[in-house]
Amino acid sequence: MKIIEKIIDMQDVMKIEKETGKKIGFVPTMGFLHEGHQTLLKEARDNNDIVVLSIFVNPLQFGPNEDFDAYPRDILRDEQIAKNMGVDYLFYPSVDEMYKDEKTTIIKVEKRVDVLCGKHRPGHFDGVATVVMKLFQIVTPHKAYFGMKDAQQVAVIDGLINDYHLPIELVRVETVREEDGLAKSSRNVYLNESEREKAPKLFQALCLGRDKLADGEKAIHEVKKGMEEFIALQTGAKVEYVEIYAYPTLEELTSPIREGKFNIIIALAVKFSKARLIDNIVFSYNKGE
Ligand code: PAJ
Repeated sequence: MKIIEKIIDMQDVMKIEKETGKKIGFVPTMGFLHEGHQTLLKEARDNNDIVVLSIFVNPLQFGPNEDFDAYPRDILRDEQIAKNMGVDYLFYPSVDEMYKDEKTTIIKVEKRVDVLCGKHRPGHFDGVATVVMKLFQIVTPHKAYFGMKDAQQVAVIDGLINDYHLPIELVRVETVREEDGLAKSSRNVYLNESEREKAPKLFQALCLGRDKLADGEKAIHEVKKGMEEFIALQTGAKVEYVEIYAYPTLEELTSPIREGKFNIIIALAVKFSKARLIDNIVFSYNKGE
């Protein structure tokens, strides 16, 4: 595995690999790799000639009161995991390398961001879209792998690829969970022992919501209320949002929920003492027609 820190070097090696007809699979991350990231890497390894992993904690997507400085980092451990997963190139730029030139442009995401995390983290998805666009220009992959754990991010990247006609296939990977249902996340290390015990209730709440809709509940607000009460009672954590939308458009669903066949996302964000956790499920809804 080659570790590359400079943009120009990364572009050079990618040019050479592509000249010999190699298919490039790309997994962008912020590091502190866990089994969620590893599943993306495995998918990329199984379906491409060359696998590129990027590790870059992107300051542009963190708000002023968010955890940029405290974000967990362990590059030596990450290098080992990357090697074991068969990564060919680890792109590991510094903040200065990525942002040394004063920006003349920034990507502003117009749709799919006024709900869920976008609503609570203003500018977050502009930061994500901008860095992903930069990384796409540097790595020029054939396929890029993203996890459904961040379903709104997937919806935004899907829009980015369409808007700018990028010749990149977006591969969506299902959320990887702990045995007890907690979605794997680099931020789970912020949970204390008692919070860690309660955290699987979030996935249970999502399943509860999905089952209510499947059982014929038509009132969206009733489903949300039931979930919020369950989370408050079972975890004591502060619910930032519980939302239900059509996916991937993230359009509002009004009550009573319309008939037909479409995908629904139920998503939540919850604040424990130090950790803000997000989770979601996307499923096919098919009623009435
Ligand atoms: P990061 O949070 O490190 O996540 C990198 C990728 O791993 C994302 O596509 C994310 O959805 C996926 N991932 C994380 N946990 C997962 C899980 N439990 N199951 C499946 N996939 C999971 O997302 C980012 O970094 C950044 O916003 C980035 C796209 C790199 C831009 O800076």
